[in-house]
Amino acid sequence: MEKTQIKDFPFVAVPVVLVATEENGRMNFAPHAQYGAVAAEPPIVYISVIKEHLTAQNILKTKTFSINIPDKTLLEKLIYCGNTSGLEQDKSKAFKTFYSKIRVPLIEECKINYVCELVRTVEINCCYMFLGEIKETYIANSCLSGETPDIAGIDPLLASIGGKFWTINELKYTRER
Ligand SMILES: Cc1cc2nc3c(=O)[nH]c(=O)nc-3n(C[C@H](O)[C@H](O)[C@H](O)COP(=O)(O)O)c2cc1C
Repeated sequence: MEKTQIKDFPFVAVPVVLVATEENGRMNFAPHAQYGAVAAEPPIVYISVIKEHLTAQNILKTKTFSINIPDKTLLEKLIYCGNTSGLEQDKSKAFKTFYSKIRVPLIEECKINYVCELVRTVEINCCYMFLGEIKETYIANSCLSGETPDIAGIDPLLASIGGKFWTINELKYTRER
């Protein structure tokens, strides 16, 4: 296989999530692609957020955030939230929301929502890497396959270099345990 060296970039295509925060009674939403799982038991995720963003400032203050998985029907709103900082414009009405038990805002239109409590903050260059423990998970009943999420129903969006968005929809294999 012949190879070409290209620009260094940390991913090919990854799920993009909407991070919701609230400070002083005002909700804020921003898309994040630098997101991932750190551990399963207890469930810990990370997001890397540029220090100046309102999302980062809110998480430092409240020590909570939520991860909401959008599908393609939310693309327009996602792009709006990614092009605009809550420091400049009030994005609090961009989505319908509900609250978790520990009172973190969650996006109603997203089929799966994770409520996270901050457990550690790592400073890395221009970002804070926030590690959050998942405390509550909500899923649309229509996306439940037994007790697990139905990925085709959730239809997550993937982001890739060059500002492109993709969908995945084909199950290839189920590993027997
Ligand atoms: C697909 C996509 C992925 C993004 N991923 C990140 C990310 O991982 N970390 C980050 O700090 N900003 C990321 N951004 C940029 C923020 O969403 C954007 O700067 C937003 O306006 C910040 O809003 P806030 O100041 O209200 O938090 C991403 C934007 C898009 C469109």
